[in-house]
Amino acid sequence: MRRRNSLTVEKDSDPELKQHPGRGASGPGEERNMKPFRRLGLVGKMKRIMMVLLLIYVSIPIIVKLFPSIQAKLIFLNFVRMPYFIDLKRPLDQGLNHTHNFYLEPEPGLRIGVWHTVPAQMWRAAQGKEGDWYDSTFASAHPIILYLHGNAGTRGGDHRVQLYKVLSSLGYHVVTFDYRGWGDSDGSPSEGAMTSDALFVYDWLKQRIEKSLPLYIWGHSLGTGVATNLVRRLCDQGSPPDALILESPFTNIREEAKSHPFSMVYRFLPGFDWFFLDAISANDIRFTSDENVNHISCPVLILHAEDDTVVPFHLGKKLYNAASQSKSLSGHKVQFVSFPSSLSYKHKFIYRSPELPNILSDFLGSAHPVVA
Ligand SMILES: *[C@@H]1O[C@H](CO)[C@@H](O)[C@H](O)[C@H]1NC(C)=O
Repeated sequence: MRRRNSLTVEKDSDPELKQHPGRGASGPGEERNMKPFRRLGLVGKMKRIMMVLLLIYVSIPIIVKLFPSIQAKLIFLNFVRMPYFIDLKRPLDQGLNHTHNFYLEPEPGLRIGVWHTVPAQMWRAAQGKEGDWYDSTFASAHPIILYLHGNAGTRGGDHRVQLYKVLSSLGYHVVTFDYRGWGDSDGSPSEGAMTSDALFVYDWLKQRIEKSLPLYIWGHSLGTGVATNLVRRLCDQGSPPDALILESPFTNIREEAKSHPFSMVYRFLPGFDWFFLDAISANDIRFTSDENVNHISCPVLILHAEDDTVVPFHLGKKLYNAASQSKSLSGHKVQFVSFPSSLSYKHKFIYRSPELPNILSDFLGSAHPVVA
């Protein structure tokens, strides 16, 4: 499929490239047709459009190479706020009537926005409650899921909210936040900052919850890169989380950038790596989950839809292969669950799967704490 796509792309761009030498060659013959722009025929107009497209096509890699920070912006997409007008202070507007919005300071003077959704059966009790009440719910016997979102949008993005609802209906607390540079959080993004914000929220949770309560980490998309960074750090410190769940993950950012639809028109260009991928590395963006799995020791669940076009399925599969060969993971459950294309879950809709509750309880080896 991907191969076929690529062939079409090559075929499509060939005539464009050939046309220009052709144009030069037929130059003299065209001389008498040289008239002001509005008199140009359809062919002339087409040629102009082609020229402009070619110019754009050629300038983008050069611009990216000269200004590598553009590449970082394209990866984080933190400036894209969708939906635009949502008030992150009011999770109720998104149908979350049992969610508390608050702010933490991972660094003095730097605030990040956090949402805590309590298990759904507490929703009545949650009405009109403030932070103290929400904090006190961590003492109940409900496990906690720390959710690390992907690029673009905020913690209030719809597919994210829908997942919080599913998880909370199963009896989990869901804690999610916007990394610095996203949503209403201060600061500007970087891989290191995303990871340290995640670590900060994790530690904040650890200090508040019952020692015996499971704390799981769930990453989606770019958030899976943050998640493996975080879990690697925790394992290095000798305190792994209870489980790691990776939804639509990739192996590392270079391979992901190569497969992203955005780079489709460039990926066959000689020098693609030098123009685009090296610019990513120059920003210190690596997200090497395939390497991190060699330093992780806790159960790992990977979820991936076969029709995912943003992070292609084969990258999730490849990460799973790396994880199942990892020495540090031997003795831990490493599971891969794929969702067939016929379900159309793509990149963002795995939360729709009616199988998700069973998949989670099978993997976590426990019934959901719905009734408690
Ligand atoms: C509040 O949220 C819970 C959990 O999602 C839901 O079951 C309930 O119907 C909601 N109540 C109202 C009044 O919207």
